[in-house]
Amino acid sequence: MARELKGKVIAITGASAGIGAATAVACGAAGMKVVLSARRVEQLEATAQRVRDAGGEALVVPCDVASDAQVQQLVDRTVEAFGSLDVMFANAGYGFLMPVERLDAGAHEKIFDVNYFGTVRCVNAALPLMKKQQAGHIVITSSIVGRVGLPFYAHYSATKAAQDALGTALRLEVEPYGVDVSVLYPIGTKTEFFEVSAKLGGRDTIMENTPEVFMQSADHVARRVVKCLRRPCPEIWPARWAHFGSSMATLFPRLTRWGLRKHANKDRKVLREMGM
Ligand SMILES: NC(=O)c1ccc[n+]([C@@H]2O[C@H](COP(=O)([O-])OP(=O)(O)OC[C@H]3O[C@@H](n4cnc5c(N)ncnc54)[C@H](OP(=O)(O)O)[C@@H]3O)[C@@H](O)[C@H]2O)c1
Repeated sequence: MARELKGKVIAITGASAGIGAATAVACGAAGMKVVLSARRVEQLEATAQRVRDAGGEALVVPCDVASDAQVQQLVDRTVEAFGSLDVMFANAGYGFLMPVERLDAGAHEKIFDVNYFGTVRCVNAALPLMKKQQAGHIVITSSIVGRVGLPFYAHYSATKAAQDALGTALRLEVEPYGVDVSVLYPIGTKTEFFEVSAKLGGRDTIMENTPEVFMQSADHVARRVVKCLRRPCPEIWPARWAHFGSSMATLFPRLTRWGLRKHANKDRKVLREMGM
C-alpha cells in the first residue's frame, strides 16, 4: 500500500537549488513538512516560500554538510519544530572537470568531505532517531557516474561510487529497524551543477557534453523521488534507460570504453584550450 505523505517530515540537504529545491516543492505539494538546508540562506528562504505556496510547511535550517555539528543541528532543529524525522534526503553535492593529477590533495579531500562524508553525517545524525521510531527513510543522491566512472570527473565519480556502496550496504543493516534506504541515480540534470562545475574548474563558460536529449529536468527527478517516498524502492533511476545502460556498461566493458573515449576526447580538447 502506498504511504500517506501528508504531515510527514523530510529534511533535505542541498535544498537551495536544483534537485533538492525541486524535491522540496514536490514534497510541499504532497502536504509534507519540509526542512530545507544548504549554505545560501536567501535561496533557501525563496524555496521555502514555494513549498508553502504548494501546500506544505517549511522550515529553513542553514547547514554546511562538511560540519558534524551543523548536520546534527539540522536533525535536532527538525525534531524540535516538527516532533519527528521521517525522511532524510542526503542530496548536497558538487563536481567539476579536472584531470586527477591536476587536483590538489586538499580539493580531492574536500569533495569527499562534502559528497561522501556529508552523506555519512546525515545518516549518522538521522539513524539513532529513526531506529528509536522503528521507522524512517534515508534517500541518498548518487549518480549514474557512481556506476560508470566519467573521465576527468574521476574524483567526483569516486564520491558518487562511495555513496552508492554506502547506501547499498546500509540498506540491509537498517532493514530490521524499519528504516528504508534508497539511492538516487540521476543522469545529466538541468540545475546549477554545471555553473558550479565551470567555476570550480576555472572556466568562464558552462560546458556540458551531454546531448540535450539525454538531459532531464530537476522537476522530473523530484517526481521520481516523491514516488519512491510513497512506495520505497532500493534504487531510483529517473531515466529508466540509464539503469539498463549502466548494467550493459558492466557487461560490455570494451563497448563502455569506446563510448567514454569519445566523451573524454571532447573534454581533453577543452582542457587543452585551458592550458591543462
Ligand atoms: N545535475 C546533474 O547533472 C547531476 C547528475 C547526477 C547527480 N547529481 C547530484 O545531485 C545532487 C544535487 O545537485 P544538483 O544537480 O541539484 O546541483 P545544484 O543545483 O548545484 O545544487 C547543489 C546543492 O548542494 C548544495 N551544497 C553544495 N555544497 C554544500 C555544502 N558543503 N553543504 C551544504 N549544501 C551544499 C548547494 O547549496 P549551497 O551552495 O547553498 O550550499 C545546492 O543546494 C548532487 O549530489 C549532485 O552530485 C547531479
